[in-house]
Amino acid sequence: MTQILITGGAGFIGSHTCLVLLEAGHQLVVLDNFANSSPEALKRVARLAGPAAAGRLQVIEGDIRDPADLERAFAAGVAAGAPIQAVIHFAGLKAVGESVAEPLRYWDVNVTGSQQLLAAMVKHGCRTLVFSSSATLYGYPDSVPIPEAAPIRPINPYGHTKAAVERMLADLVASEAGWRIASLRYFNPVGAHPSGCIGEDPNGIPNNLFPFISQVAVGRREQVQVFGGDWPTPDGTGVRDYIHVMDLAEGHLAALEAMLAGGDQLLTLNLGSGQGHSVLEVIEAFAAACGHPIPYVMASRREGDAAITVADPAEAQRQLGWQTRRSLKDICCDGWLWQSSNPNGYG
Ligand code: NAD
Ligand code: UFG
Repeated sequence: MTQILITGGAGFIGSHTCLVLLEAGHQLVVLDNFANSSPEALKRVARLAGPAAAGRLQVIEGDIRDPADLERAFAAGVAAGAPIQAVIHFAGLKAVGESVAEPLRYWDVNVTGSQQLLAAMVKHGCRTLVFSSSATLYGYPDSVPIPEAAPIRPINPYGHTKAAVERMLADLVASEAGWRIASLRYFNPVGAHPSGCIGEDPNGIPNNLFPFISQVAVGRREQVQVFGGDWPTPDGTGVRDYIHVMDLAEGHLAALEAMLAGGDQLLTLNLGSGQGHSVLEVIEAFAAACGHPIPYVMASRREGDAAITVADPAEAQRQLGWQTRRSLKDICCDGWLWQSSNPNGYG
């Protein structure tokens, strides 16, 4: 059993990962300021994990930018009898459009927040980290599937902050021995836990396709706008690599265990399925899962979009023995169960 600090553990990916880690027997301290999440998510994680496992989950409301809050989180591990041995760092801001409007807030939370966290880790002698990076780093890829060696060319402030943190991690690993870091570049995380008890609950109008479709399906919104029908793809709509959030959560467990078991390293991995699906394919798959058509209209292209992004996931399989197991059908069935059981999210 290992004591792990999970920053941003109440969020979409964090909550599903907390459940997988509890089920694997780990002890967790979550540090979250609930800027984009609800404490209810972790209450449900505790319920799903069962009473024995729930005793291994501590939740601290606090901000990664505040050294006093980080101290409280590290102290919580010690108080529970096991100092924190590793960190999974999810906390951050992730809306591309918002990052264009408010770049300083993105640099503050994503970059300064990561720097404060790393300083606290050094202070407490903890040098094992799994970091939430993003496929957004690749910008407009030269070719697909995209390997990790593809050029890093972010096209928005959000992407620049992720690239800056990856740079900071590389500098740190080069500066002293002892660091074991996995940077995981997620493609498009979607879906929900198969219980329908936890899932994605975005604030306001969803920026992303999958939660938008779910809200149309449940009657919260009228129709999906398809951003572009003239892309150079088989049906003219954008193609993405959608990864079930439970596959992603299991990828974190695999990465964490590899870091805890291995020597000094900086491992940078794509987490994706290697399969591309178009917007129209996702709409059709969701309609099949919910049992009724999803109304949509064709609209113009969204600025900043690429035609196709699909991961080359081979390195993650080689390094971690991990690959996705769930299909687009699973993604839509689980996403629909979550949305239909919780039409207003965590409420
Ligand atoms: P999310 O917004 O659901 O979760 C992020 C969590 O961090 C939230 O619970 C939020 O309250 C918390 N948080 C934000 N600022 C904080 C701060 N200053 N101090 C403490 N907690 C703070 O997002 P998610 O989809 O779960 O994403 C998790 C991570 O994965 C993020 O770093 C994101 O950039 C990255 N990522 C997400 C996607 C995606 O499409 N969801 C894709 C690639 C990378
Ligand atoms: N799309 C629509 N209508 C919508 C929303 C999206 O047609 O209402 C289309 C987009 O044009 C794109 C596809 O659906 O072709 C997927 O768009 P998303 O907004 O769901 O996802 P993105 O690929 O644009 O970006 C997401 C996250 C980024 C992350 C990236 C990683 O928003 O933060 O995946 O690949 F970096």
